[in-house]
Formats: sequence, C-alpha cells, structure tokens
Amino acid sequence: MSPPPTAAAGSGPAAGLEATRDALAASGYLADDSAALVSHLAQQLGKPVLVEGPAGVGKTELAKALSRATGRELIRLQCYEGLDEAKALYEWNYRKQLLRIQAEAGTGPEGEPAGGEVMEDIFGEEFLLTRPLLAAIASEAPVVLLIDEIDKTDQEFEAMLLEVLSDFQISIPELGVVEAQSMPIVLLTSNNSRELTEALKRRCLYLWLDYPAIDREVEIVRLHVPDLDAGLARRLVEVVGMVRELDLKKPPSIAESIDWARALLLLGADQIDSETFNRTMSIIVKHRTDLDLVAERVGMRLPAAGRNDGTS
Ligand SMILES: Nc1ncnc2c1ncn2[C@@H]1O[C@H](COP(=O)(O)OP(=O)(O)OP(=O)(O)O)[C@@H](O)[C@H]1O
Ligand SMILES: [Mg+2]
Repeated sequence: MSPPPTAAAGSGPAAGLEATRDALAASGYLADDSAALVSHLAQQLGKPVLVEGPAGVGKTELAKALSRATGRELIRLQCYEGLDEAKALYEWNYRKQLLRIQAEAGTGPEGEPAGGEVMEDIFGEEFLLTRPLLAAIASEAPVVLLIDEIDKTDQEFEAMLLEVLSDFQISIPELGVVEAQSMPIVLLTSNNSRELTEALKRRCLYLWLDYPAIDREVEIVRLHVPDLDAGLARRLVEVVGMVRELDLKKPPSIAESIDWARALLLLGADQIDSETFNRTMSIIVKHRTDLDLVAERVGMRLPAAGRNDGTS
C-alpha cells in the first residue's frame, strides 16, 4: 500500500479537506462529501464522531481507513449487551494482587503479614489491566479509537463514556486521574437499534452514512474486485439498487455487493441474466421471505440466459 499523503497539495481550508479525502482513498476508502468533511473536522476540532446508518455501509471501515490514512494505531472497543467498565476501562489483576499478598505475607517479620505497604503496592500500575478506553487515553502516540456498535450497550455505559469523551480523562480512585497524552480521533458507530442519549449526541459530530449513489458504489466494488469487468460491475450495482427499492427485511449492503462481485468473477459470469441471478441471489438476500419477493420482482425481469437485451 502506498504511504498516506502527509501534507495538503495546496494550501487553505479546502486543501486540508481534499488531503483528508485523498488520504482516505489511498487507504482504500472512497469517502463521499459528508464523510470526508466530518473526518476532516473531527481531526481539526478534536471532537468524537458518531456514525450512524444501515448495516454494511462502511461505518467500521471508516475508522480503520482513518487509522491507516493517519498512520495512527487503531484501538477498538467492540460493544455488546452487558459491557461494563471492567471490560471497557480497566480492572485490577486480582490473581496477581493475591499472589503478591501471599508472597509478602511470608516475608514479614516472624511471618507477620506486611500490612499497609502491600496494600498500597498492589494498587499500582503494575497490577492494572488496561482495557481499550484507558489504552487510548494513556497512549503516548495519538491513536484512532473505534467504539463500535455503541447502541448495543445500555444508558449507564453511555453516561460513563461522557467523562471520557468530553474531558479525555479517566479517574481511577486508587491511582488518580489519567489524562490524555495526545488527542485521539474517536469514532462511535451505531445501527440505530436504540436511540442514543442527547447528552452523548451533543458531544459528537454526526455522520449519517447511507447506501451510496450508483457511481460511487461502482467505484467501491471495482476497488475491492478490480478484475471484474467495468460494465458488469455497473450492471451489478444497478441490480442491487433495484433489490434495495423493494420492501425487504434486510436490503443488501455494500458488503453484499462486493461479495456478489467476487462470486460473479469466480463463476466467470459475463452478464447478469435471470439464471445467473437466481443461482447467486442468496449472496445478496438473506431472508427466506425476501428471497421469494426478490425472485419474483427482480429475477423475473432480467433477460433469460443467452440474451443480452437489457432488463425490461
Ligand atoms: N466508502 C467505501 N470505500 C471502500 N470500501 C467500503 C466503503 N464503504 C464500505 N466499504 C466496504 O464495505 C464493507 C462493509 O463495511 P463495514 O463493515 O464498515 O460496514 P458497517 O457499516 O460497519 O456494517 P455493520 O453495521 O454491519 O457493522 C467493507 O468490506 C468495506 O471495506
Ligand atoms: Mg460495523
């Protein structure tokens, strides 16, 4: 992979924005205007970004691409139901603490436990297990922090995040306050499985990522599957667009377009006729009822095998 551009080609604010877009593109991410703008502002303003949108539209990938584009390490906190501070911030290494207490107990005068000194000792950094949020704050080199699928956690967890996101610091009662050594770029992603709190939203820049326009999606597919014929890639994206227009439980995402492109390349398909479509549509449609609807409304409208005369 070519090294990320480090400086803007020209000068002034617009050049900075273009440099961000180019650096993302060089890192394999084709950002639209709003994604490029928010990524640029996040770095300039030092504010976290909340990225929302349907599944598979490139929310997580944006954070990964920003990490590659800026040469910063990516620290990822994958959220899930029941995620707590011990797994997100830090926890004490109880086993190690216990071992130290036992070891010290044997060395005191006449076998007496060593007492207060040990207690102070075992709440030092050596006994701290660092989890992603603390790791990002404590890191000397600037990082990209991805808090992925924040909507899977509960509101208490969100409240705890507020201190981290607004002050870039974490208080550890036994050790004191750990302040950020360098400003991380923070991205939070959400699939809208629940509404996030206003307090959290207020602290973030907001980016809504949607299914891309046809031209952009063709570019993305060709970036990931460069060997696929350009005309076939466009046709594929058009057909995926037709499928997305139906009222489905789960419309196909960019990830599915890419998978389908890989499959068509492997199968040596040179056009998307109804037979090819019916054989491969389970790559883009993954619900039983959706399959029936798509076969009827899209599959039937594609040309029969051997004919190359468009859709209608
Ligand atoms: N703008 C883009 N440029 C290049 N690749 C992209 C772009 N958008 C999406 N992709 C590709 O689409 C795929 C899905 O992206 P990603 O996993 O980031 O989706 P997501 O929005 O996080 O989905 P989910 O909500 O299911 O986690 C990835 O393989 C990614 O590389
Ligand atoms: Mg994701």
